[in-house]
Amino acid sequence: MDTTEHAGDTIRTRLTELFPIKHPILCAPMALVTGGELAAAVSRAGGLGIVGGGYAGILGGEPDLEAEIVRAKTAKFGVGFITWALERAPTVLTKALKHSPFCVFLSFGDPRPFAEEIRDAGALLICQVQLLSQIDVALEAGAAAVVVQGAEAGGHGATRSTFPFVPEAADYLRQRSPETLLLAAGGIADGRGLAASLMLGADGVLVGTRFWASAEALTPKVHTDRAMCVTGDSTIRTKVLDALRGVPWPREYSFRFLRNELTDKWSERESDAFRAFGSLSEEYARARAQNDLDMIAVACGEAVGLLKDRLSAESIVASMAAQAADILRKGGQLTFTPRS
Ligand SMILES: Cc1cc2nc3c(=O)[nH]c(=O)nc-3n(C[C@H](O)[C@H](O)[C@H](O)COP(=O)(O)O)c2cc1C
Repeated sequence: MDTTEHAGDTIRTRLTELFPIKHPILCAPMALVTGGELAAAVSRAGGLGIVGGGYAGILGGEPDLEAEIVRAKTAKFGVGFITWALERAPTVLTKALKHSPFCVFLSFGDPRPFAEEIRDAGALLICQVQLLSQIDVALEAGAAAVVVQGAEAGGHGATRSTFPFVPEAADYLRQRSPETLLLAAGGIADGRGLAASLMLGADGVLVGTRFWASAEALTPKVHTDRAMCVTGDSTIRTKVLDALRGVPWPREYSFRFLRNELTDKWSERESDAFRAFGSLSEEYARARAQNDLDMIAVACGEAVGLLKDRLSAESIVASMAAQAADILRKGGQLTFTPRS
C-alpha cells in the first residue's frame, strides 16, 4: 500500500499493515521512563510499546531490564538501547532477545555489529537517526524502519528539525530503499503532529515526551508536575550536563531537558564543562536521589508545552489517533478564516 488511508478513528499506513498494529504510533524506548507497564499499555491500546533498555546497565541506577521486559510481555513489545552503551555491554542484548521482542530499537551509534544477532532472533530492527547521512548505515544494518529524530525531541538528540528532516528522508528512502518504513520523531504529541508527519511522508510516529507524562511511565511525579507548569520555551538542548556528570556521550549528541539553575549557570560555558568532565558526578547522583529539579535533568522535549495532564497511555493513543483521523478526513475541506 503506497498511500495512507483513514476511516473512522483508525489510520492505515504501511506501518500498521506490516507490524501489524491498529494505530501508527510507537512509544519511544525512554531510559528510566518506558518500563514494561507503559510499553504494554501502549501496545494494548493499539500502538507499539518499546521498553527502554537505556544504557544497558553501564551507568547503574537503571531499572531492572529483565523485570521490565517480563511486565511488557503481557502484550507485543520491543526493546531499545543506546547503541554506544550497548557496545560496552553486548550481553544485555542477548538476554533481552531471549524474551522474543517483536523489535529492537537502536539509536546513537552504529547498529551494524548487532544486526545479525537481532535478525537471527527473529526481531525486526528499528534504527533512529539524527542526520540524513546516518540512514545508509541503518539500511546496511537491514533496518525494517528508520526513525528520523528532530532536535525538538526530549532526551538526547542532535540538530536537525523534524519538519524538513522527515520529507527529505522520505525522498531519500524512496530512491534508496522504498520498502523501508519511515517514522517521524521529535515534537509529536497529539493528532496534529501525527497527521502532519503522515503528510510529510512518514508511515508513523515515535512519541516520547507525551508518553513520558503518562500514568504508566516510570517518570517521578514531581517531574511531570513541574512540566505541567511550563511552556515549550522552557527546554534547552545542551551538552554541559553530560560533561559535568561524566557520562561519555559522543560529542555530536546533546540533551534536551527543562532549563534550571544548572543550565542557567553552565549552558554558555560548554568548553569549561568539558574541562570539568565528571566533576559533578557525585553531586548529581545525590541531587537525583533527592529529585532536586534545579540540578538534575527533567528530560522532556519542546512538546512539553502541549501537555496538560498525566493521562493514561490508552487515552493518549486513542485521542492522538482519533484527532489525526479527523484532521486527515477534513483535510480537503479546510477553510481559511481571516483574522479580523
Ligand atoms: C525522557 C526521555 C528519555 C529518552 N531516552 C531515550 C533512550 O534511552 N534511547 C533512545 O533511543 N531515545 C531516547 N529518547 C528519545 C526518543 O527516542 C525520541 O526520539 C523522542 O522522545 C521523540 O521526541 P519527543 O520527546 O518530542 O516525542 C528519550 C526521550 C525522552 C523524552
